Amino acid sequence: MCGIIGIVGGEPVSDRLVDGLKRMEYRGYDSAGICTLHDGRLVRRRAKGKLSNLVDALRDNDAPGSVGIAHTRWATHGAPTAENAHPHATGEVAIVHNGIIENYKELRAELRDDGHSFESETDSEVIAHLISRRIENGEKPAEAVQNVLPRLRGAFALAVAFRDHPDMLIGARLGSPLVIGYGSEGEDPEMYLGSDALALAPLTQRISYLEEGDWAVITRDSAQIFDLDGNEVTREIRTSGASAAATEKGNYRHFMQKEIFEQPTVVAQTLGSYLRRDDYSVALPQFDFDISSVRRLTIVACGTSYYAGLVAKYWFEQFARLPVDIDVASEFRYREPVLEDGGLALFISQSGETADTLAALRHCKEEGQTIGVVVNVPTSTMAREADLLLPTHAGPEIGVASTKAFTCQLAVLAALAAHMAVKRGLMSRAKETEVVQHLLEAPACLNAALDHDDDIASMAHLIAPARDVLYLGRGQDYPLALEGALKLKEISYIHAEGYASGEMKHGPIALIDEDVPVVVIAPSGPLFEKTVSNMEEVRARGGKVVLISDAQGIKDAGEGCMATIEMPKVHPLIAPLVYAIPVQLLAYHVAVVKGTDVDQPRNLAKSVTVE
Ligand code: F6R
Repeated sequence: MCGIIGIVGGEPVSDRLVDGLKRMEYRGYDSAGICTLHDGRLVRRRAKGKLSNLVDALRDNDAPGSVGIAHTRWATHGAPTAENAHPHATGEVAIVHNGIIENYKELRAELRDDGHSFESETDSEVIAHLISRRIENGEKPAEAVQNVLPRLRGAFALAVAFRDHPDMLIGARLGSPLVIGYGSEGEDPEMYLGSDALALAPLTQRISYLEEGDWAVITRDSAQIFDLDGNEVTREIRTSGASAAATEKGNYRHFMQKEIFEQPTVVAQTLGSYLRRDDYSVALPQFDFDISSVRRLTIVACGTSYYAGLVAKYWFEQFARLPVDIDVASEFRYREPVLEDGGLALFISQSGETADTLAALRHCKEEGQTIGVVVNVPTSTMAREADLLLPTHAGPEIGVASTKAFTCQLAVLAALAAHMAVKRGLMSRAKETEVVQHLLEAPACLNAALDHDDDIASMAHLIAPARDVLYLGRGQDYPLALEGALKLKEISYIHAEGYASGEMKHGPIALIDEDVPVVVIAPSGPLFEKTVSNMEEVRARGGKVVLISDAQGIKDAGEGCMATIEMPKVHPLIAPLVYAIPVQLLAYHVAVVKGTDVDQPRNLAKSVTVE
């Protein structure tokens, strides 16, 4: 989703602003722009499409100056055109905005009545006009911004530059993230604004995270931060772990490929902080909350994180005999869920900023729930609002399609389910030891699964020409079928659906013909026979099957399949982690065959900060 960077510096900023935007490309965008302050003017360059178009525009027409703001836009209101790209400007003021201004229509009408005219279709442009109007009426920049912020309904992270104040920027946040970066303090001090620490990684590691409602005035050597009520506040300066190298692909062709191959390492790291190797027990962080008192668990998440929750529902119910309600976050509040008094609500998110999940989290907080968060970005808003923080240690995930965050979420959720089972007196010490041993085997099994990369690459051409693909799974492999279909559609643009394999005959089987490949996820085990029966129903109707199973499963049912992908024989508990690899690799290689933009698929954003 939109990315923001701002620099108040002593050296030309245009190249560094563009470099910052490059670091945020992974968030997803469809236009970009920059505005610098130079010779008493606001110098603005904007371009539709990829950042290379903005770079071309700057090559023809540079943006000099040592203070500036820049933005990658993910279109919400108005098409991705140069006119709708940020920064938006009036004569006096330029702004970049991430979020949605929900009352922009009434603000536009008011400003129009006051003689203002607009050059874009965006909701954001009203902010520039509102601030500008106050400056024209004699207010100082800080006063003008402070007076405008309460008029904005919705979500925003903002950076504002002022023509007549070339030594400062103002930033503000409500609902969308914004950080302040502190540069060197020596002779050449600099200060920065950014959507995240990663954007600022080559410039500084010293970061303050603005809190909800904060706004800040930054100059080259100072930051003054104010809260919603205008009181000056102090926000801790932390050393960010974000490394500039995290946004590099190394020897891999794509970030997604790099991140798929990182999984054995990051899953091991994640498990390492929840499991004890010395006595094979689960060791969760200490909380001021009696987890054994939970009678019902509410899980809320979006997209791939939601599928991790769906897998975990099986574990919470099977191990801990805990009833689980699970919803996609965008639907959760609207069904007016009945929440248990003093209950636990668990939110799963890679970014920790997803607007729907965050809104659901805040709803649950208002309803008195204890808030558990499984999150990959430890400094994110969700992490900061959690009562029980359960970090995944996947490291920065840059590819838009989530891969390593998913398997790390599964690792944390499996440990949590086992912990709850122990606390509820339903898992003996011997059983806990067994579960922990199996979980600790996962990284090696993930490595063994990755060994099949070449086989999967060589069968990708069988799937690439398809218009539709179905994925089938049963039990805890059903969410994997959903995840496989999501991965394929988002990066290869092939229409794909995941079904519980038993549901096929209740409708979807009508779709089957020789042009619709069906990917069946079926490790050998208690549910295997039933899934194979569903697979035979597909084959009897001319369907072409790709069977993902272990050696035994392929021996028993692989004959006559269009292709098979062999996985190591693994314990059912870790099967969802291991079988995630072939579904990710299949989607990846099909996208490569189709030549799509694997890391930045069209229309998608990494961190979805609008509801
Ligand atoms: C799919 C994908 C999305 C995210 C979803 C939630 O590959 O990446 O479906 O899983 O947008 O994002 P987080 O986990 O950041 O809340």
